[in-house]
Amino acid sequence: MAAHSKVFLLLSISCAILQISLSGDPDILSDFILPPVFFGPLDGNFFTFTGMRSLVGTPFPKSFKVSKATMAEFPALNGQSVSYAVLQFPADGSVNPPHTHPRASELLFVLMGSLQVGFVDTTNKLFTQTLQQGDIFVFPKGLVHFQFNCDAKNPALALSAFGSASAGTVSVPNSVFNTTIDDKVLALSFKTDVATIQKIKSGLSG
Ligand SMILES: *[C@@H]1O[C@H](CO)[C@@H](O)[C@H](O)[C@H]1NC(C)=O
Repeated sequence: MAAHSKVFLLLSISCAILQISLSGDPDILSDFILPPVFFGPLDGNFFTFTGMRSLVGTPFPKSFKVSKATMAEFPALNGQSVSYAVLQFPADGSVNPPHTHPRASELLFVLMGSLQVGFVDTTNKLFTQTLQQGDIFVFPKGLVHFQFNCDAKNPALALSAFGSASAGTVSVPNSVFNTTIDDKVLALSFKTDVATIQKIKSGLSG
């Protein structure tokens, strides 16, 4: 290969990598996207999500609860590269188990109470923090993270914003121990026996 074509190849590869690392959701070529089946009328209602009204004035849930406003619940988000989740943590030990969002960074805003949060980077280093009401924490895209309310008396409420209309969630406990991956594979991977794997699995199934 001639020297100049090698340089060109290298340049195109670096551009492609840069493109991948800069991109979030794909850019759209119109102001907004209507669902394939839409009966209208097209007005402010299409751009309004009222699903969170059900949280106002209702008693706090008894276990950890996520309420989402992603493209699935709110079709107007398609192509807009943003979404929300409201996270409710009752007092005394409620946890949002370790998980990742493959398609977005997450910006978590503690509106009420306090939360212990953390994420693990690709070198397995844990970054953790105890957040107070009013604090904002960022979970980098794709990294394993969790939130925990260890306050014995007070519930915690947080609002998470995502840089994707469909961030996706991969739960670590579920994706490892609540699928049909062979017990033997898991036993070998976790350097333990099949009985231990089955014990963990039985806690998650059903
Ligand atoms: C495990 O998977 C089953 C079937 O998909 C589901 O019903 C159950 O809620 C999952 N367990 C947990 C802890 O999410």
